[in-house]
Amino acid sequence: MPNRITTFAEYLDEYRKSIDTPEQFWADKAEAFVWHQHWDKVLEWNFAEPSVQWFINGKLNITENCLDRHLLSKSTQPAILWEPNNPDEAVRTLTYAELHEKVCQFANALKNNGAKKGDRICIYMPMVPELAIAVLACARIGAIHSVVFGGFSFKSLSDRIQDAECSIVLTADGAFRGAKDIPLKSVVDEALETCPSVKKVIVLSRTNVKITMVEGRDIWWHDAILNVSAECPATIMDSEDMLFILYTSGSTGKPKGVVHTIGGYMVYVDYSFRNVFQYNDGEVYWCTADIGWITGHSYLIYGPLLAGATTVMFEGIPTYPDAGRFWNIIDKQQVNIFYTAPTAIRSLEAFGLEFVKPYSLNSLRVLGSVGEPINKEAWEWYHVNIGKENCPIVDTWWQTETGGILISPLAGITKTKPSYATLPLPGIRPVIVNEAGKILEGNNVEGRLCIEFPFPSIIRTTYGDHERCRSNYFDIYPNLYFTGDGCKRDEDGYYRITGRVDDVIKVSGHLLGTAEIESAINEHPDIVESAVVGYPHDIKGWGIYAFVVCNTHRPDTNALKQEIIDTVAKYIGHIAKPDKIQIVSGLPKTRSGKIMRRILRKIAENDMANLGDTSTLLDPAVVEEIKAGAIH
Ligand code: WT7
Repeated sequence: MPNRITTFAEYLDEYRKSIDTPEQFWADKAEAFVWHQHWDKVLEWNFAEPSVQWFINGKLNITENCLDRHLLSKSTQPAILWEPNNPDEAVRTLTYAELHEKVCQFANALKNNGAKKGDRICIYMPMVPELAIAVLACARIGAIHSVVFGGFSFKSLSDRIQDAECSIVLTADGAFRGAKDIPLKSVVDEALETCPSVKKVIVLSRTNVKITMVEGRDIWWHDAILNVSAECPATIMDSEDMLFILYTSGSTGKPKGVVHTIGGYMVYVDYSFRNVFQYNDGEVYWCTADIGWITGHSYLIYGPLLAGATTVMFEGIPTYPDAGRFWNIIDKQQVNIFYTAPTAIRSLEAFGLEFVKPYSLNSLRVLGSVGEPINKEAWEWYHVNIGKENCPIVDTWWQTETGGILISPLAGITKTKPSYATLPLPGIRPVIVNEAGKILEGNNVEGRLCIEFPFPSIIRTTYGDHERCRSNYFDIYPNLYFTGDGCKRDEDGYYRITGRVDDVIKVSGHLLGTAEIESAINEHPDIVESAVVGYPHDIKGWGIYAFVVCNTHRPDTNALKQEIIDTVAKYIGHIAKPDKIQIVSGLPKTRSGKIMRRILRKIAENDMANLGDTSTLLDPAVVEEIKAGAIH
C-alpha cells in the first residue's frame, strides 16, 4: 500500500503537487493497483460537454483490487463483520478469502442467469452480507449495478429499473428493520408489472415471509448458487466503463441516474478513505450508512475493501432494541473508526446519556460525520460523549455525484473547527462564486460552491440523458462543476457548507426533491396542487412542509392528511412523508403563475416578519390566510 499523509506539512505538500501536476499526482496513486493494461494517457477533459476520462485505455477489474490483491497477505483477515438487526442472532464474519469465494460464486450464478458485461442489474436488498456480495459480483463480470435503497416504494423502484432498463433484479423475501419486517419481494413484484426489461429475479431468503415466485422469472439465491463453481476470472474492463448507476434526487420529479466509471472512482475512493480516516492496517472500521446510498458504496464497500480494511456492516437501526445499539456494537466489535450521520447523532442525543453510559467506547480512535451540516451542539455531544474528547471528528463533505469525499479534515492532522468541513483533499479545487458566477477570491467570502478541475471520481453522466448532466452541473457556471450547495470560506481558508441553494432538501441526511414530493402528493385524487418546502427540524436537519389545495370540500382534514402521507409513502417511500400538511385555498403566485416558494419557506420557518415584497402576487390575500393557518 502506498503511504498516506501523516502530517499537516505533508498534506500541504501533497496538495501543492496535486494542483501543479495533477496527472503525475494521480498516476502515482493509480500505480499501486492491479491493471491488466497500463493507461496511455492519464486525463482528458472538458466541462463543456462534459467529458472526463481518467487513465485512458487502462484495463482492470475493481474486484481484483478489492479482493484478489489482498489474498496473499490478508486471506484470513475479516473483510466484513456483519451485525444482525436482532442482537440475539449470530454475527457473521467473512474473511477476505471467504468474500472472494462468495463473490466469484455469485458472479457465476449471475452469468448462469444470463447476465453479461454491460447489463444493468438492480439490487433491492436488506443490509446483509449478500448485498455486498451482489454488488461485487456485478463488478466481477462487468455488469453495472444500480442499488435501490430498501425504503423506496414500488413506484420509485420501477422508475429506476425502467430508466436503466435492468435485466435482472436481486432482492430478498423481506428485510428486518428494528421491530419491523419490511416486505421487499412483494414490492418488487408490484414494480415489475411495469418493467418489461426484467428477465430474472434472484431472491435471497432472509425473513421467511410467504412470497410468490413467478415461474421462469424468479429463482431463490440458494438455488442459484447450488453446485456453482467459486472460480470466476474477473472480466477485464476499460477504466472508463461504467461501474454503477446510483439514483439521486434533483429539481424535477424524475430521479437522476448518476454514473460512476471504474478507474478514477477506484483510485479516488481508496485514496480518500485511507487519508481522511487515517486507516491503519488491522483496524476495524464502521460506516453506518445503507449501501443504497453513495456513502455505503464508497465507504462501506469499495473504499475499505480497496484499502484491505475490516468493514462492519449493520443490518438494523440505531434505536433497536434500544438507543444504545451503536455503542453496544462499537464495544462488541472493538470499532476503531466510526462514521455516521448528524441526524443519527441528534436523535441518539435526544434519548439521553443513559444509553451511552454502559459502554466504554475505548476502542474508538476516529469519528466521522457525513450527509448534512453537523451543528455545533451535535458536534460537541459526539466529541465529548462518544469520542471522550480523544477522537478527531472528520466532517466530510461530498455528494453522490462526486463519488468520494472532497472537503474534510484528515483525522488527527487537520485542525478541526465544529461545523466546518475544513479543507479540500489533494486534487480538489473548490471555488466560491456569487449568483452571477463571479469567482470570489480570498478568504471571508460566501456564495455557491463549485469545483474547477476534474478529480478522478467526478460524475461522468446521468444515465441515458447526458444533457441533463450538462445542464444540471456544468452549464450553470461555465467551466465549473456546480455542487448546488452554499458555502463560506472563513478567515483561515476553511470551508463551511451552509446548505442547498436549489429545490432539494436534506431530510435526515436523505436528499429529496421538492418537485418529486409534490408530484407524489398530486397523485391523490382530491389534491389540485401543492407546494413543498423545507423547514429547520431539530433532529432531521430539515423537515417537509406541504401546502396543499384540495378540489373537494373535505371536512375530515385529519383523514385527508393521512391519505396524503400514505400517497407519498406509496409513490416515493416512507423517507419522503411530509411532517406538516397545511390545507390552503390557494398558493401565493406571481401574475405569471409561478409559485413564490420564498414566501412559503419563510412561513414554514415561522419568519413572518421577513416575507419580503408580496405586492407582485396575483392574490396577496392568500398569504394572510396561509400565515394564519401556519403549523408551528
Ligand atoms: C449533499 C449531497 C455526502 C455523501 C452522502 C450524501 C450535503 C453532505 C455534508 C457535510 C454539510 C453536507 C450537501 C451535499 N452534505 N455532506 N459534511 N456538511 N453538508 O450524498 O445524498 O448526494 O447529498 O449533502 O448538501 O450537496 P447526497
